Amino acid sequence: MKQRPALLITRRVFPEVVARLREHFEVQTNEADAVWSRDELIARLQGKAGAFVTTAEPIDAALLAACPELRAVCSMAVGYNNIDVAACQARGVMVTHAPDVLTETTADFGFALLLAAARRVGEAERLLRRGEWTKWSVDFMAGADVHGATLGILGMGRIGQAIARRGALGFGMKVIYHNRSRLPQDTEAALGGAERVELDALLERSDHLIIVVPYSPATHHVIGAAQLARMKRGAVLVNIARGGVVDDAALAMALRSGHIGAAGLDVFEGEPAVHPALLDLPNTVLTPHIASASEPTRRAMANLAADNLIGLLATGQGAMTPVPEMRG
Ligand code: DGY
Repeated sequence: MKQRPALLITRRVFPEVVARLREHFEVQTNEADAVWSRDELIARLQGKAGAFVTTAEPIDAALLAACPELRAVCSMAVGYNNIDVAACQARGVMVTHAPDVLTETTADFGFALLLAAARRVGEAERLLRRGEWTKWSVDFMAGADVHGATLGILGMGRIGQAIARRGALGFGMKVIYHNRSRLPQDTEAALGGAERVELDALLERSDHLIIVVPYSPATHHVIGAAQLARMKRGAVLVNIARGGVVDDAALAMALRSGHIGAAGLDVFEGEPAVHPALLDLPNTVLTPHIASASEPTRRAMANLAADNLIGLLATGQGAMTPVPEMRG
């Protein structure tokens, strides 16, 4: 009987996804959901043709050299900055990610953070729980309006467009965006007349800025002290992209001074550690990288990674969602 390819699933995933994969592969799982060290990951990848990964496992040239039998790295995340795609290409290792299935869920969460930060939901809730709600006052917990404001979006891919739709059609917002390329005119029109602007104009004109741009060396600290200083006084900033796109220390200073009114942050430099200055600030809503974490969406993401592994290593049908660099 033909030997089935061996597969490593690096984190605990849904049992039905593991069961599907067991129909095709010899599967090693991580039921304890441990965060393996690099050496442990390399050791567990020995003899494996496939790796089912998340955002947490760095896959680089040295790891690939130490795991010569690896042929496919399939991530259940859309963002793949943890995977050195060029190094994979050089070794003939296919890389897939999980676009589309998380778009609407992630856009919902971007909006949740925007509303929570602008309307001071986290701050007000913490105050109430501390027993400090004693009376009504005219400006008590008064925040910024979301409806009718100018919404800036940095990174106008699928998720950026889903956020723009919510802003323009649901909240009557003027949408401006910065992206490498301009959207087709009919797409801009469908987003309430969304307008592509240069980064400086985006910073200067936005009442609220949502960051959705993928992380890469080119976007490292794309929002730093100088960019924050360009933003309107009192503007709200939301980061659901990746830690490192925003300079968290500079953001903490801008929030402390009041120049930035509030921030909703789901991703952090060096996460799961969070810059201590952000933790101390009342005008932040901080969540632990959960923008895509609705139950159906996380299942869909995991199933898509499984589909890719099955297509690449079992049925020969190929990858459903290769990363853009590997699309034919
Ligand atoms: C993604 O898919 O890139 C998300 O950040 C993971 O939750």
